[in-house]
Amino acid sequence: MPHRNREGHRKRSLAVFPGSFDPITNGHLDIIGRSLSVFDQVTIAILVNPEKHPLFTVEERVAIIREAFQGEERVQVDTFSGLLVDYAERLGASVIVRGLRAISDFEFEFQMALMNRRLNPRIETVFMMPAESYSYLSSRLVKEVFQLGGRVRELVPAVVERRLREKYGTAPPVPVPVPARRRARARRA
Ligand code: PNS
Repeated sequence: MPHRNREGHRKRSLAVFPGSFDPITNGHLDIIGRSLSVFDQVTIAILVNPEKHPLFTVEERVAIIREAFQGEERVQVDTFSGLLVDYAERLGASVIVRGLRAISDFEFEFQMALMNRRLNPRIETVFMMPAESYSYLSSRLVKEVFQLGGRVRELVPAVVERRLREKYGTAPPVPVPVPARRRARARRA
């Protein structure tokens, strides 16, 4: 039964989608889209972690996500530090959404969900699976592929590709194939 407030109105369901989002990928967007079909509102919560050395600053990540979700009133962007369950409680969210891409994600996610439940049993973790086409996608691989001159266009929102280009210079380096004969000559030299 839907939760109702004192006036008898249905309470809007709010889910938190936490993560590093360095940068946000189409896999994240897929999970957010699925979350919106279940919850009224989703807050994308970026962890502020001074021990990590991200490519994009927290401010840049907030701006990127805001641009990616321009006009979508049911999606908010925020930052948090400290315990995720404390943040969720402060926000009034009763659900944490996490994406599960493959079995390899499962062990860590399972530990985290159970620890969060121990810390605050009122907050439930819900796992969602992205489309299979995103099952191999991660922020780390996007950065690596882009840095090495690979194409990331279908993997990230347009704003991320643009910001990656700004970060690394005008255009991603394109590896130039060296003809086999020239390679052999170079080896002999
Ligand atoms: O995108 P990521 O890096 O997989 O996200 C991990 C995140 C931010 C969800 C996780 O590190 C987290 O919740 N950190 C907050 C600290 C916390 O609550 N730790 C105890 C939970 S096990």
